[in-house]
Amino acid sequence: MSATPRPVEDRLVYSREELLDSGPYAAPLIAGGVRCHGGFEADGRYRSPRTIHRAPAIEAWQARLRREGHDLVEIPAAGMPPTWPSVEQSVLLLEHGVRDPIVRTLTIISIVEGFGAIIRDVRIPDLRALVVEPIDGTALAHLGEGLFEAHARDESGFKDEGGHKQMWEAARDLALDRPKIPGDVLMRMMGRQAARKKAERPFPQLDATLERMLGVMAQVLVVEIFAEGTFDWGHRVLSNPKVSAAPEAAGAMVQHIRSDESPHVEYLRTALSEVRARTLRTVDGKTIAGRSVVDALLHRILFELTRHRPQEQRDDLRESLATAMQVAPDPKRLREEFDALDVAWTPPAKTGFEPALTP
Ligand SMILES: [Fe+2]
Ligand SMILES: [Fe+2]
Repeated sequence: MSATPRPVEDRLVYSREELLDSGPYAAPLIAGGVRCHGGFEADGRYRSPRTIHRAPAIEAWQARLRREGHDLVEIPAAGMPPTWPSVEQSVLLLEHGVRDPIVRTLTIISIVEGFGAIIRDVRIPDLRALVVEPIDGTALAHLGEGLFEAHARDESGFKDEGGHKQMWEAARDLALDRPKIPGDVLMRMMGRQAARKKAERPFPQLDATLERMLGVMAQVLVVEIFAEGTFDWGHRVLSNPKVSAAPEAAGAMVQHIRSDESPHVEYLRTALSEVRARTLRTVDGKTIAGRSVVDALLHRILFELTRHRPQEQRDDLRESLATAMQVAPDPKRLREEFDALDVAWTPPAKTGFEPALTP
């Protein structure tokens, strides 16, 4: 394929309208009868929504960071907990007619995607007052000027246009032929959320709104990066002709979603890297290196997620898995085969953002 490389625009300032603009499409994306975001070019290629200016803008902000000698924060993929049930386990279940755990997992993904809309409610403090160095022409300066809003629209849809929530539902319904959705999926997720302890503030010397915003951004960045493992699972299961009723259409839908995620990861890591390259004012009139704040937040989140997520995935399905397996001709044998495919996983000893590593 000879795609013409897009010139990196050197423009650093964009309007909200530009960052939310999708531009014209030759054909819309319809998923499960719902008009979704994004669409197709005349040559049939899918183009993610709201990227005609957002994508080159992010590239330009990243190029600026590099030009100024700063690095872009990198989340090591080695810390990504594997998806459970694995692709092999999921295919095994579906081949034995056990659909409930897969339907549940896919429904959880669609709900989590919909939750992504909360990013638009994150309060943005007066960054020009709280950051010592200028922030003009950065991703940081555009968070409230379209970046958070574009992200929210991508995840949960906007007006009559579906987003990732609807696209995952469509992929699930295509591949598994409109399965019955268990009624307790959301309730169980809420129960888990309520059981989580509210963490104390790691940086009480920071403006509370700034600390919360950076915390949410770090959390969402890690979740977005780890989601890639889940999306890869979704693609491999739903595009498998042995178990999927619509391997091509469902697989393509997951690939569209995956390509839409790229700007989320990129703008978040750009803005966090810009904070890392700057100095923050504290409420007691002192300053703190942005790097130590961002790295400590990332360390906390990576540590928590890598240690608790594998267990949470199992907890989400434990009871329903045993019950669901009863529909198989030989549940005991299926359980043994399923367990034999289990892959042990130990989180890496270090997150790479240990406080001691950052001067
Ligand atoms: Fe998404
Ligand atoms: Fe996302």
